[in-house]
Amino acid sequence: MTIRKAEPKDKKDILEITNLLYLDIPNFVWNTDEFIDRQIKNGEYFLAETEEKIVGIISFRQRKKKIHIETLSATDDHQSEGVGSQLIGFAKEFTKEKGFSILRVYSFHEYKTIDFYLKQGFSLLEKPGIYNNHEYYRLEMRI
Ligand SMILES: CC(C)(COP(=O)(O)OP(=O)(O)OC[C@H]1O[C@@H](n2cnc3c(N)ncnc32)[C@H](O)[C@@H]1OP(=O)(O)O)[C@@H](O)C(=O)NCCC(=O)NCCS
Repeated sequence: MTIRKAEPKDKKDILEITNLLYLDIPNFVWNTDEFIDRQIKNGEYFLAETEEKIVGIISFRQRKKKIHIETLSATDDHQSEGVGSQLIGFAKEFTKEKGFSILRVYSFHEYKTIDFYLKQGFSLLEKPGIYNNHEYYRLEMRI
């Protein structure tokens, strides 16, 4: 598996994957053209590929000296093959390279991914998150 920076031509493939992550929450932005466009332009979107086929996606944002994972997904036909774990490994390297020591991820309860993140070494932050009446887990890892 290789991980590379996403380019504008990858937007359609990214949209297809993020549309599967869509939750019916007002202002759900993570599958919108504008959000993805901006993250690609900023060099914050990455693709995991095997034999030039996309098997996973991850995107980041820097907020207050921390790196936040904004999007994370293994493609439908490549779940539970270690793609997610490798992308988290990449996120740790990305955080280090940017000179930061804290990696965060927020995840809506609906995704049921809390155990995945705990297994990866994230700790649950005390303060819960809420976005337009939808609760999300706030998790953090010190690198
Ligand atoms: C969550 C996700 C990224 C994990 O990636 P993955 O490639 O399937 O996970 P891995 O194969 O690296 O699994 C690592 C470990 O986590 C476990 N795991 C994976 N997904 C899990 C989940 N949803 N809940 C609990 N455990 C999970 C695996 O069983 C594995 O355990 P093991 O090490 O004991 O064998 C992937 O399942 C996914 O894309 N889900 C749909 C999109 C999504 O919910 N994204 C998160 C939005 S915040």
